[in-house]
Amino acid sequence: MAGPLLRVGVIGCGFFAENHLAAWAGMEGIVLAAVCDLDEAKARAAAQKFGAAAAYRDAAEMLAKEQLDFVDIVTTMGSHAALVGLAAQRRLPMIVQKPLAPTWEAAVGIVETCRAAGIPMMVHENTRFLTPVRAARAVIDGGEIGTPTWARIAFRTGHDIYGKQPYLAKEEHFVLLDLGVHMLDVARYLLGDVARLYCQSESIKPGIAGEDMATTVLRHQAGATSVVECSYASPIHPDPFPQLVLQIEGMRGSLRVDPGYRMTVAAEGAVREVDVSPALFPWSTPPWHGTQESVVRTQEHWVKCLRQGIEPETSGTDSLKTYGLVWGAYESTRSGQAVTPLDQR
Ligand SMILES: NC(=O)c1ccc[n+]([C@@H]2O[C@H](COP(=O)([O-])OP(=O)(O)OC[C@H]3O[C@@H](n4cnc5c(N)ncnc54)[C@H](O)[C@@H]3O)[C@@H](O)[C@H]2O)c1
Repeated sequence: MAGPLLRVGVIGCGFFAENHLAAWAGMEGIVLAAVCDLDEAKARAAAQKFGAAAAYRDAAEMLAKEQLDFVDIVTTMGSHAALVGLAAQRRLPMIVQKPLAPTWEAAVGIVETCRAAGIPMMVHENTRFLTPVRAARAVIDGGEIGTPTWARIAFRTGHDIYGKQPYLAKEEHFVLLDLGVHMLDVARYLLGDVARLYCQSESIKPGIAGEDMATTVLRHQAGATSVVECSYASPIHPDPFPQLVLQIEGMRGSLRVDPGYRMTVAAEGAVREVDVSPALFPWSTPPWHGTQESVVRTQEHWVKCLRQGIEPETSGTDSLKTYGLVWGAYESTRSGQAVTPLDQR
């Protein structure tokens, strides 16, 4: 650990917070000082399981009583603006789960709130921290496949995601905002920022409020094209859930990341296979271990940036470029036209 102990307060102790809490509890230099949930029983259970000294029902009370160095907001998006406002009033740095907000305007408002308060803020965007995604970026950076020209970034599944996250069935803006935000961020991370995009989406599963399948074509500023596929309505076998699939073609070769954490790099007549399996922690629960490792790496990145006073990869400002793609994709679906990302207007 390089620096003093940092005290974190976690707001929201639901399904996904388990991963955040396990990561904080196991991280050197971090004290899980307090947890909070509107449902007091959940807060108490989380405090007991992960060793937090205090449990609260009210976030304002937690922030008033505890001496915290930063806050981790792990609630669903409708509550983010108010909670960000509370933390900003106390000038507390914060990491906030995706999706940042239910609308483009609310996302911009959250980023402005933090900017005006002069505090660091990062969106907890873990997918770019997956081991296979980092490995693919390292191959691109190493120049082995040459300048990227085309990519496919796909997450298609028929897995019942509504069992653990029933609120998703009611989201009017669904797969692009819930899953697309991860995949579009990966597209930016691997191929750079985007000049134009076109999207087609549809609602397949009966009884859900929003779209559950979306295909977006991106023209990146550096010249590459990518196809970003998001689907929670794909009855495919074998179902790769919860793994994504990558194919990246460059001027000199290509790479593929397939389910089973296998990366194949083919360049100038040579083909090599790389094991891109995630690390396992004592608390990992396969098949979730890839996501769980990415949560740890995301939080480590936040802590490093906070200690060194540098901007995180997915700072609020940077993340608006990803949300500009999400809301551009919705606009494109409605209009049937290619559009520029919202943040570039
Ligand atoms: N990155 C990923 O891979 C991933 C996976 C799943 C979920 N998520 C995201 O995590 C977030 C949380 O999802 P979840 O499935 O854990 O939801 P959840 O409903 O299981 O948990 C949210 C918790 O927040 C609490 N809460 C809400 N408002 C609050 C407030 N004002 N103060 C204190 N507590 C409050 C609720 O009582 C609930 O216990 C969502 O934004 C979701 O998109 C991310």
